[in-house]
Amino acid sequence: MKKQSLIIDCDPGVDDALGLFLAFGSPGLELLAVTTVGGNVPGDITARNARIMRQLAGREDVPVHAGADRPLVREPVAAAEFHGEGGIGDMTPFEPRVGNAPGPAAQAIVDLVMARPAGSVALAIMGPMTNLALAMRLEPKLAAHLGPVSVMGGARSEGGNITASAEFNIYADPDAAAEVFASDCDITVFGLDVTHQVRVSEDRIVAIEVLGGESARTAGELLRFSQRVEREIVGWDAGPLHDPCTVAWLLDRDLFGLKPCRIEVETVSDLTRGHTAVEFRVDAATARHHWAVSVDAGGVFARINASLERLP
Ligand code: RIB
Ligand code: CA
Repeated sequence: MKKQSLIIDCDPGVDDALGLFLAFGSPGLELLAVTTVGGNVPGDITARNARIMRQLAGREDVPVHAGADRPLVREPVAAAEFHGEGGIGDMTPFEPRVGNAPGPAAQAIVDLVMARPAGSVALAIMGPMTNLALAMRLEPKLAAHLGPVSVMGGARSEGGNITASAEFNIYADPDAAAEVFASDCDITVFGLDVTHQVRVSEDRIVAIEVLGGESARTAGELLRFSQRVEREIVGWDAGPLHDPCTVAWLLDRDLFGLKPCRIEVETVSDLTRGHTAVEFRVDAATARHHWAVSVDAGGVFARINASLERLP
């Protein structure tokens, strides 16, 4: 079976880390690179965290390119309360054996995508969309040459999680998101409407903890941290697992129900900055955007557990 070539752009981040483990342990993916962006925590820390997870997973074959450490225009915002000051819960961070690959994320995305057949490289974005926006500015042909772009971001029927009307990734860099949604990219979006259906229940954490191996142990530790802060801050007994949805969909399209749409982002009003306006009244045959509305959450966790079982 042909492997899906993939670049993951992320801001690890607890749920980003689970998304990385899912990808690192999936033989159906050709993971060309991980690129990182400032988001949950500053950019130098997200790059280090991606390299920590890569080392634990035994995947130092995958280059990590550090990217934008601030949004296109706005002042950086962070979410350390949900991810820990170091971005990886209460894990003790360490400097991984292998450093960042040379060259910034945006250039790496352009080089890797444009060197391969049109439509053959997918991009999964798990943080603010700054790196893709910068890459499109570097190479105007990139959007049309990219394969499927899966994005974790936005909210429609759910309220926001950083403000009443905005989800964190889009809020953090609304200008980048607006440029990406206005481009020729074919984008499938996993917003809070669907990620709130993927809950990290106690039994799902235990199922990961009993797998054995350093990757599964780390995943379990990160999810325990998340469980604690979700209870303390939000009052949820089982918090949502956002970012792995972007990879799970690339592995198995049947896990999600999608609706064709057109998405635009609020960039003028401070009150509704980063709001995603998701319009379903579109021509399905020509829609470039799709919005995830349903998910087989058990199937997503089955994929995560299968990947963790394959990893050291
Ligand atoms: O709103 C959830 C998103 O914001 C996730 O990507 C999480 O990692 C944070 O970046
Ligand atoms: Ca993220």
